[in-house]
Amino acid sequence: MNTYQTSSPAVGIDDIAFATGANRIDLAELAGRFGVEPAKYYVGLGQSEMSVPAADEDIVTMAAAAAAPIIERHGSGRLRTVLFATESGIDQSKSAGVYVHRLLGLPQAVRVVELKQACYSATAALQFAAALVARNPEETVLVIASDVARYELHSNAEPTQGAGAVAMLVAADPAILELETATGVYTQDVMDFWRPNHSATAIVDGKLSISAYQDAIEGAWADYRSRGGADFSEVDHFCYHQPFTKMAIKAHRHLAKSLGSERTQEELDAQIEPTTGYNRRIGNSYTASVYLALLALLDGDEDLTGRRIAFLSYGSGAVAECFSGIVRPGYRSALRSDANRAQLDARTVVDDARYLQLLEDAASADVHDSDRPRETGAPFRFAGVVGDRRQYEPTSA
Ligand code: COA
Repeated sequence: MNTYQTSSPAVGIDDIAFATGANRIDLAELAGRFGVEPAKYYVGLGQSEMSVPAADEDIVTMAAAAAAPIIERHGSGRLRTVLFATESGIDQSKSAGVYVHRLLGLPQAVRVVELKQACYSATAALQFAAALVARNPEETVLVIASDVARYELHSNAEPTQGAGAVAMLVAADPAILELETATGVYTQDVMDFWRPNHSATAIVDGKLSISAYQDAIEGAWADYRSRGGADFSEVDHFCYHQPFTKMAIKAHRHLAKSLGSERTQEELDAQIEPTTGYNRRIGNSYTASVYLALLALLDGDEDLTGRRIAFLSYGSGAVAECFSGIVRPGYRSALRSDANRAQLDARTVVDDARYLQLLEDAASADVHDSDRPRETGAPFRFAGVVGDRRQYEPTSA
């Protein structure tokens, strides 16, 4: 059993669920348009598919769909805070979380706020949530990460799009993962990826983003260690931010080398491989991706009871954080593994022409008043825009 430092009482992830877009495109479709071998994406990027939202889905509908089973299971009696992390916000002022608050019928005595720092902000939300719960263990906090990743069409970044949301309930005496108290943080002003207000798609310097990611992870790890974090050799699995799954493998090999680890490349890759299954099929879900890595690991075959998992969260711009947690006994009874796998398989397969049409429709969604066609089978839908007001409703309405 690991030795570790946790807060008293234990605080961590009590429940976790995800949602994604209604459609999926095989990256072989994009390879055809780009005139490259599918292996460039399947092997070179470690991606097989990406999720594409239906015309009546967005970050709000995915977030509400991810959080709904958590509220259904736990109720909202102890919930005091909703933290909504995103970098593909639908409004410059109002938190997307307020729409989710209404869709889920949450009590008015709940605070709701949106957080932004590229793909990192869900980790800030998780840490803020843990601090709130440590202050009052009777309270719970709902953390939601939800994003639709969009880059310029026909750019090299286009195959690294995707869409998804992860919701986590943070509570005392958590059923799934107990957070350790040591965290390591790192910030550096770097222009590797950003989205100016005038642009619906992110601007990215892809190669710079890879080196900035690796530098930031190294810095966050060093800070984590200097604050009492576990040694590299004491960690069983590592969940990295996965803009594409190969990035996690690259970053892990890079970190191990920088630390002089004696683990072989096979041993290192085996620490990452079980974290990649969902991201490989969803694509980049920005803020949600590091927590989809956790979910894939938890849903896998290995019994993780008592295992230490380290998290390496990176958001371009750039902020990184490293922290760790210990998997709780009996964690499997809190999971929804079969439903999670079924959700990925249930997506409708679209070809390149349909995918391009969906992107074009989404780009015009909030420029004009419009009704969105009924497409999604998810519990909530984006019905359209009336007088600059986005309309959300249960799909059954
Ligand atoms: N079979 C197998 N692998 C192949 C291949 C083939 N036929 N063709 C190319 N590859 C490999 C390359 O060798 C490379 O692997 P390596 O990096 O391990 O050497 C990988 O596929 C990608 O090829 P590359 O030419 O570097 O890709 P690209 O120039 O098209 O762009 C990104 C890749 C990631 C830079 C681009 O998609 C991007 O900018 N994405 C958005 C930003 C991002 O996700 N950044 C990550 C940090 S946040």
